[in-house]
Amino acid sequence: MTQLSSQPIKFAYWVPNVSGGLVVSNIEQRTDWSYDYNVKLAQAAEANGFEYALTQIRFTAGYGAENQHESVSFSHALLAKTEKIKVIAAILPGPWKPVLAAKQLATIDYLTNGRIAINVVSGWFKGEFDAIGEEWPEHDERYVRSEEFIRSIKGIWTTDHFSFDGKYYQFKDYNLKPKPIQKPYIEVFQGGSSRAARDMASRVSDWYFTNGNTVEEIQKQVDDIRAKAKANNHQVKIGVNAFIIARDTEQEAQAVLQEIIDQANIEAVNAFDDATRQAGAASPEGEGNWAKSTFEDLVQYNDGFKTNLIGTPQQIAERIVALKNVGVDLILSGFLHFIEEVEYFGEKVLPLVRELELQQQVQTTAKSA
Ligand SMILES: Cc1cc2nc3c(=O)[nH]c(=O)nc-3n(C[C@H](O)[C@H](O)[C@H](O)COP(=O)(O)O)c2cc1C
Repeated sequence: MTQLSSQPIKFAYWVPNVSGGLVVSNIEQRTDWSYDYNVKLAQAAEANGFEYALTQIRFTAGYGAENQHESVSFSHALLAKTEKIKVIAAILPGPWKPVLAAKQLATIDYLTNGRIAINVVSGWFKGEFDAIGEEWPEHDERYVRSEEFIRSIKGIWTTDHFSFDGKYYQFKDYNLKPKPIQKPYIEVFQGGSSRAARDMASRVSDWYFTNGNTVEEIQKQVDDIRAKAKANNHQVKIGVNAFIIARDTEQEAQAVLQEIIDQANIEAVNAFDDATRQAGAASPEGEGNWAKSTFEDLVQYNDGFKTNLIGTPQQIAERIVALKNVGVDLILSGFLHFIEEVEYFGEKVLPLVRELELQQQVQTTAKSA
């Protein structure tokens, strides 16, 4: 069932455009949400083998991430200071309407020589939607809206005089000029793990992003999505979140994890837990992003510890290849001290991943000869 990719596995990192880093903990972090820090980070990432950077969208945050830069403008500003990395801008249907998003992104695509992508997120924080005066449809309805959003933007990007008559969006004979440089269109990622999220991925998204998890659990999701996508005659790639702690020894890496958890901001993690009850955990089948998350998991707000890319470069490289072997195309990474750890990853972990991929390819070719 599992469809293996012969392509090298890709790497993305979370842009810290939100304060507090990627963990809800009082541990000291040399990660900063400023523009200057983020430019240096994006430059370090592209020099160290990362192909994508993912910005986050929050209008407000209930878990201690006090300041948040807006995702599309921040993505554009990072693209202006880099040369090859693609930046994925998070977009929330609701505040964004598809015609505006399609137009705004087509322009950025032009200005950056085809390096913008988007992550359509469906919303998990009711308090945020209330605060900005947006309607809060029920869980699965949010995906009905997101799917219409994706069908609308793809239609606008590819078709002259495009019309759409959906439940959430209606427009007539809209002719976007110029269309994006990237063909057939700007890549569309999506985030979420629920039944509704997977079904949407198997119909319309180019990439499915999911929270961190064990290889076994990720394999179940991959097989499920790929089978459905095949039935829909659609192709979707898979990206998995992981909070990476790579150190020279396993003990050092585990000690860092323990310190992050020991210093968790308990009040903020509990507030986040409450908010997720209205999001993933509230999805009808109980399979949403945070449905099975423990307190410790939630200290990294996309369950990034669960993927277990924590240890020595060799251990991490082996686990990355194991994920690739169940059909994962991309690792979305978070780090404690971003710039220095992205550099360590590029120097120490990535070459081992490429070596293991090569060995595997040689073995496969030998077997089939
Ligand atoms: C990799 C990834 C990135 C996400 N980024 C954002 C974001 O920037 N802003 C946001 O509001 N939600 C974000 N989400 C949340 C999802 O859009 C979704 O609301 C959440 O995962 C719950 O979905 P589910 O109930 O379908 O599992 C992200 C999710 C994932 C997996």
